[in-house]
Amino acid sequence: MRREAVSKQVTSALPWVEGTSALVVIVLAVCAIGLIRSNSQRETAILQAVGGDPERAVPAMIRNGCGGCHEIPGVPGAHGTVGPSLRGVAEREYVGASRTSPDAMMRWISRARDVDPNTAMPNTNLSPQEARDITAYLYART
Ligand code: HEC
Repeated sequence: MRREAVSKQVTSALPWVEGTSALVVIVLAVCAIGLIRSNSQRETAILQAVGGDPERAVPAMIRNGCGGCHEIPGVPGAHGTVGPSLRGVAEREYVGASRTSPDAMMRWISRARDVDPNTAMPNTNLSPQEARDITAYLYART
């Protein structure tokens, strides 16, 4: 094949390549938007169910010293190793001694010793609102 013929073939293939990559970009963008929307819908549903505000949870966890014993994603200085990391804690089957649910989570993080007298986690005596805010955070953001 002569040189000119080859370069002609290459140039005639280019619009096709451009068209395909534009399509790929569009498909990826649509997927990303879908993912973000389904995440925020999930977060909204959880927050409504729990009645807490995860924005208030970070200061509440700092105030109550949770990070002294736990590693908590998104909480400055929370690198404790006394208790388990709270990364993905809401996805575990059990919280403390109970099946995981928002209620069980609120009870555990406020009054763990009432749930299990032998646990190393102390009663933190969170206010009900702090317990809701932190539970919302643990469900939606870790
Ligand atoms: C003095 C250390 C200490 C402090 C302070 C503390 N925890 Fe814990 N926490 C623990 C320990 C130890 C465990 C594991 C207890 C067990 O399994 O019996 C635990 C367990 C947990 C669990 C269950 C984890 C799992 O995988 O089942 C959650 C959720 C939790 N803590 C949240 C908190 C929050 C929120 C705070 C602050 C309000 C807090 N903790 C404060 C020591 C602590």
